[in-house]
Amino acid sequence: MRIIRTKNYDDMSKKAADLIASVILLKPNCVLGLATGSSPIGTYKNLVKMYKDGNLDFSQVKSVNLDEYKGLPRDNEQSYYYFMHDNLFSHVNIDLKNTHLPNGMEKNSEKACKEYDEVIASMNGVDMQLLGLGHDGHIGFNEPNSFFDKTTHCVNLTQMTIEANKRFFASIDDVPKQAYTMGIGTIMAAKMVIMVVSGKDKSEILKKSFFGPVTPEVPASILQFHPNFILVADEDALSLIE
Ligand code: F6R
Repeated sequence: MRIIRTKNYDDMSKKAADLIASVILLKPNCVLGLATGSSPIGTYKNLVKMYKDGNLDFSQVKSVNLDEYKGLPRDNEQSYYYFMHDNLFSHVNIDLKNTHLPNGMEKNSEKACKEYDEVIASMNGVDMQLLGLGHDGHIGFNEPNSFFDKTTHCVNLTQMTIEANKRFFASIDDVPKQAYTMGIGTIMAAKMVIMVVSGKDKSEILKKSFFGPVTPEVPASILQFHPNFILVADEDALSLIE
């Protein structure tokens, strides 16, 4: 595990974007595993700027997203499909045919998960997986559990995650209660994993995840075993680490 300590959110976003840009420069037809949420928004802004400045080309890049709410249509502003288009895909020259998210509108969970695992398998490996860190240690929507789920599956979101996500919805009742998520096995199979973490509110779970025991009760802790894991975190998030 490598830690890149940054001054603040903006610095974290710039450094994470630089790392991702280097992946694209080294392998123009790379497969990027992408995340949603507040943490990577600044990273995407920096990537868009690099593209607009003529320094980055997404024309051959392929992407697979970590997760999607079950039951939200793509045009719902809170769907992860909408988020990815709003924050990245609509602003760069990525071929939309090469972008993938789980199908949140598929009611049959088994079918949705199987189809998404087939998409991931067809990519022949994820070159870089971007992650945020949930307050309960979740990665993707792999919530604390008694075991590590390996492949794409349907999860019941924990009350803590529903609470954390309610800020984006009109009321807590509108927050979806289930999601489809890539499994821990798929995340761990990525050649490189970059996690962006910012803010004092993440300091405790950051410490627990990367300076405590590896356990499915803290899903992110498994990343301690990843051979190429880069944690890009700001001073606030790292404030409990000496
Ligand atoms: C998003 C995702 C989640 C978030 C996590 C942190 O695709 O999979 O695991 O990364 O909930 O969210 P933020 O960045 O909003 O604190």
